Amino acid sequence: MATIDKDRVIIFDTTLRDGEQALQQSLTAKQKLQIALCLEQLGVDVIEAGFPISSPGDLQSVRDIALALKTATVCGLSRALDKDIDACYEAFKGVDHYRIHTFIATSDIHVHDKLKKSFDDIVDMAVHAVKRARNYTDDVEFSCEDAGRTPIDHLCRMVESAIAAGATTVNIPDTVGYTLPYEFGGIVKTLFNRVPNIDKAVISVHCHNDLGMATANSLSAVMEGARQIECCVNGLGERAGNTSLEEVVMSMKLRQEYMKGVYTNIVTENIARASQVVSGITNEPVPTHKAIVGSNAFAHSSGIHQDGVLKNKSTYEILTPQSVGFKENNMHMTARSGRHMIKAVLENLGYREGSYNLDDVYARFLKLADRKGQVFDYDLEALLFLSHEQEEDTQFELDNLTVLSGGKNVIPTASVRLKIGKRTRTESGTGNGPVDAVFNCISRLTGIRLKLDSFVISAKGSGMNAQGQVDVDVIYENRHYHGKGLSTDVIESSALALISACNSIYRAQIIENEKHEKENA
Ligand code: KIV
Ligand code: ZN
Repeated sequence: MATIDKDRVIIFDTTLRDGEQALQQSLTAKQKLQIALCLEQLGVDVIEAGFPISSPGDLQSVRDIALALKTATVCGLSRALDKDIDACYEAFKGVDHYRIHTFIATSDIHVHDKLKKSFDDIVDMAVHAVKRARNYTDDVEFSCEDAGRTPIDHLCRMVESAIAAGATTVNIPDTVGYTLPYEFGGIVKTLFNRVPNIDKAVISVHCHNDLGMATANSLSAVMEGARQIECCVNGLGERAGNTSLEEVVMSMKLRQEYMKGVYTNIVTENIARASQVVSGITNEPVPTHKAIVGSNAFAHSSGIHQDGVLKNKSTYEILTPQSVGFKENNMHMTARSGRHMIKAVLENLGYREGSYNLDDVYARFLKLADRKGQVFDYDLEALLFLSHEQEEDTQFELDNLTVLSGGKNVIPTASVRLKIGKRTRTESGTGNGPVDAVFNCISRLTGIRLKLDSFVISAKGSGMNAQGQVDVDVIYENRHYHGKGLSTDVIESSALALISACNSIYRAQIIENEKHEKENA
């Protein structure tokens, strides 16, 4: 095990695994890579990039991320099964340093009702899995799934056995978010008191937020000696989510006197951007009152509070917005800006050349700047996401849009031209409003009969410079899909959002077909 400072808490981010598995719609390989690079810039130590056995696409995406990371350790998840562990190795072949994370459930209910095994069998499987993973890498993490509800004698035995088998990190998940902070800290304390070889591994925690305790439970565990926290940006993750990265990091930074001087390597000034990037790419809005990164987190509404803050900010502000990277926008990009400027702005935002196509982004930037005048960095980032999306298996692309609406006795009418694969087709039609008319045309052109579940317009940017972003949530064959469109014209944003949802449905169908072919092969 590499020696690390005993006061440093390793930040293990699982946005791309636990977070991603809970999204309504899975991310494309390029979107995952973009998030991974952003996490690396944030200073995350370990990035759990995916679950390689789950699909060939996931394996390839974990591999792409492993090859692109420079400083963070990449990690792949596996059940305690040979084929899963071998799939991780497959994803990491030729990569200098990587972690295999293998897990098996240890609570009675999971062992007996889910796995239908005895606890002795489970210990054997865990030991075998850790040893197999150790044949491939000396960085092996073992997780006792549902540790929070595991009888303590069993947990002690499992932790000891996993370490003896070669696990360098042992993770104690509160998989169902059931424990309370004093109780969870107590579990970790008992492990430190009773497991004889505990000093041979890093003890990690992975808390779910079902009772809203994930942050408190993780901090309580750190106070008892845990030195790795598993978390997700914006608290994404199964059900109520995982521990939120920004909350644990800022709590440890701000409350040093209670946290016994522990620290992390997170560049806290990059937190706001990471939150926005993850939210933008996953289509999961950050709740306005979300601690640290919500838009209301630094707003003061009541007169008494505003008066206090004007006299001394610390009256009602325990953190400055700047300390987590919220800043005024000061980029002035117009149609006269050259490629170098765009590249420099993107570099400043943390995008390395090679992780995007500059020609493509620049061409889109010029189009936008022509229509909008000044373009801001968030516009550029949005363009980056959209262009990434369109590079991936884009079956439908908007080629032309004409809408006639407004005025008395005018029936809203639209004409939409789409590129569909290599062909171009046009449809015209009416609707009970201009967006409805556009949606009717798109539905006929794509042949996808979906149900619109929600339609939200929001401004990106402020005042007259804002662009309209449309987010749609549609239902197709009982599954939800998101679509996002951004333009200075909200009707066009609406068309782009619906087309993006249709592309997601199309991609999902390709993945489904691949799965069936694999199963039948
Ligand atoms: O919640 C959980 O127990 C997990 C494990 C796979 C670590 O996500
Ligand atoms: Zn989990």
